[in-house]
Amino acid sequence: MIRPLKIAPSILAADFARLGEEVKAIEAAGADFVHIDVMDGHFVPNISFGLPVIQSIRKHTKLPFDVHLMIAPADPYLKTFADAGADIITVHAEAGLHLDRSLQAIRALGKKAGVSLNPATPASVISHVLDRLDLILVMTVNPGFGGQSFIPAMVEKIAQIREMIRGRNIDIEADGGIGAANAGVVTRAGANVLVAGSAIFSSPDYAAAIKAIRSGALSVAA
Ligand code: DX5
Ligand code: ZN
Repeated sequence: MIRPLKIAPSILAADFARLGEEVKAIEAAGADFVHIDVMDGHFVPNISFGLPVIQSIRKHTKLPFDVHLMIAPADPYLKTFADAGADIITVHAEAGLHLDRSLQAIRALGKKAGVSLNPATPASVISHVLDRLDLILVMTVNPGFGGQSFIPAMVEKIAQIREMIRGRNIDIEADGGIGAANAGVVTRAGANVLVAGSAIFSSPDYAAAIKAIRSGALSVAA
């Protein structure tokens, strides 16, 4: 199964005062998803933004919204994120006791269901929920902040997950510290969706930054 390469700029690194324009700019620059990092100051040691921000940028782009929930609990808010315009809703495996139920709830809302794993969480925690997944987000930094350094041990986890999902239509997303220099190693291991915050938004030319990540990556066959 061929899983096409997708670039998902994280708006955590965008200029929040001009978020509508920033989202339009990444669409024009060739982004595939808008990656939206929601942080609650409880599950992760940082607070980012929530529902009103997502609602207000929804009208500025047609790109799918890839919503990464770093919140606990997540279940009470799934419907409101779906209503706000999320297309993919990703919950952390560590954020609740009932991952299977959370994933069922996301699909019941008509949205794509994702799970995210912190760096210390083994791939095996998702081995019994694969049929409920559209996307697996491998954190390649500890969640909470943009601009951190990529953790090389996550390459092996991506490769393990690629083996686990073989034959299934599930995207593997790498998130944290990704740029042109390491896009190749994570795609070779099996990632086909690359999140990049600072590597894109710190560049004066978003299209060039996205192109550089794409050329660092490879076309991935699972
Ligand atoms: C971290 C977030 C990431 C982050 C990536 O908790 O999940 O999406 O914004 O930012 P960079 O690409 O700067 O590491
Ligand atoms: Zn993220």
